[in-house]
Amino acid sequence: GLAQEAKRVADEFDFGPDAVRKAVKEFIREMDEGLQKEGTELSQIPTYVTAVPNGTEKGLYMAVDLGGTNFRVCSIQLHGNTTFSLTQSKVPIPRELMVAKTSKELFSFLAKQIEEFLKLHHEDHFTGYLRRRQTGEHKEEEIFNLGFTFSFPVQQIGINKGLLMRWTKGFDIQEAVGQDVCALLQTEIDALHLPVRVAALVNDTVGTLMARSYTSPGKTGTLLGAIFGTGTNGAYVEKLDKVTKLTSKADVGAYDKSTGDMIVNTEWGSFDNSLRTLPNTPYDIELDAKSVNPGIQMFEKRISGMFLGEILRLALLGLYNDPNIPLFRDENSAQNDVHSTTQIHPGSGLMKQWGIDTSLLSICAGDQSPGYRVIRQTLDNEYGISAVSAEDAETVREIAAAIGRRAARLSAVAIAAIVIETGRLKPATTEQKDGVNPPRGNVESEGKGDVPEEEVIDIGVDGSLVEFYPGFEDHVRQALREVEEIGTEGEKRVRIGIAKDGSGVGAALIALVAGRVADDTD
Ligand code: BG6
Ligand code: GLC
Repeated sequence: GLAQEAKRVADEFDFGPDAVRKAVKEFIREMDEGLQKEGTELSQIPTYVTAVPNGTEKGLYMAVDLGGTNFRVCSIQLHGNTTFSLTQSKVPIPRELMVAKTSKELFSFLAKQIEEFLKLHHEDHFTGYLRRRQTGEHKEEEIFNLGFTFSFPVQQIGINKGLLMRWTKGFDIQEAVGQDVCALLQTEIDALHLPVRVAALVNDTVGTLMARSYTSPGKTGTLLGAIFGTGTNGAYVEKLDKVTKLTSKADVGAYDKSTGDMIVNTEWGSFDNSLRTLPNTPYDIELDAKSVNPGIQMFEKRISGMFLGEILRLALLGLYNDPNIPLFRDENSAQNDVHSTTQIHPGSGLMKQWGIDTSLLSICAGDQSPGYRVIRQTLDNEYGISAVSAEDAETVREIAAAIGRRAARLSAVAIAAIVIETGRLKPATTEQKDGVNPPRGNVESEGKGDVPEEEVIDIGVDGSLVEFYPGFEDHVRQALREVEEIGTEGEKRVRIGIAKDGSGVGAALIALVAGRVADDTD
């Protein structure tokens, strides 16, 4: 019967305690490998950011953010007391620009959005600058320092210089690969004579880490910034002397070495591309084969929002296409044992690649209504699947839950590995380094209470999946407890906090730090 088939498919997404532990070991191995050499599965990109903020930073900065669902432009006033005010505008990124022939189309669009933002929110500043520019009286200080959050793998060669390694999340503009994305943006900004300098290049995970550090008053500083959204990735605070692929270079570059730390962008979306430890169902295989980047971002393809809906679609389609399985059969049709493919319209989301959105998984996980009314309505209204019985809805719910649970348990693999590998689980010592993570006075209420502040392992997260998928964090925590090195005690010490829209603030903070470094070297 259908219930049995639903269970069979759901079981294919099991990722049990042993699998978690094995993957954690592999993650740690790949972390180390990535710190030593180039071209590894985990890219472990040094970010040239060597300190996290402490909440006292001040000033007015700009940031733009490309790489999630939306393109954002913001200006951020940092008040210096762990608070900030943010003005922002968001536009969805036009699909055709993601796969344009040349990068100019995309970057000139971005510059245009910055111009409109300035006209709308900083008009006096902007027109004043343009006027003074004509007479040559404009000043250096009038130019906004802008943090550019660009959420793709970039080989960073300086704080505001980085070469695009590859596109992810469905973007595909071949001509841009290998180019300096800051220069691409600056060129288009200059073409519009905007008073804006691209001061820092920031991955969204790094921005999230910075933002969380600014606003969260933990005594130990934030360890990890992670995104579980359209894509997934994390950046963490690493010991500089472990980043040997950087420190062993003759020209170690211009960055501040005083803290002894460097933030590393793991690009964990490509963890275990060779599938040593990752699960691999027929649906994962098909999704990958039909993606724009087969064989890469294999971890991301099992975790993040861009892909989970498609995995669900492929799993459901497999059942639907089997004439012996009574899924989505019109109960009113006379022959409901004979499979009629005309029953679901070819235009339905079920029939098209990417046709099912990950929001459906969140809806399934959240539906408490009798007979799964909400799920049935959503399938009908949004996906054109109308003949849905309660048993059909139960099937969708069960498979969706299994896919969501697997995604969360895989996410825990990355978190566990980083917590273990950075040594944060060791009993806290009283010794406190100067500069990097100064002790904070004010403690927020988010903590569990029973964990002393100096033992908290703080993690900032953002993205549509953690934000909207019900129970995501619970599944993560369950898996964390199953890892021996962490256990129940260690799991309690992990504090996970949303750094909502954090990367804009984070980018501003890095632009600030970048400005400081520039001043120091003058
Ligand atoms: C946003 C951040 O809040 O979350 C972005 O500002 C980030 O930088 C995004 O990329 C991730 O979420 P999603 O779901 O939009 O990919
Ligand atoms: C993709 C990108 C990565 C980004 C993540 C989250 O994995 O490659 O740079 O951080 O998505 O947006």
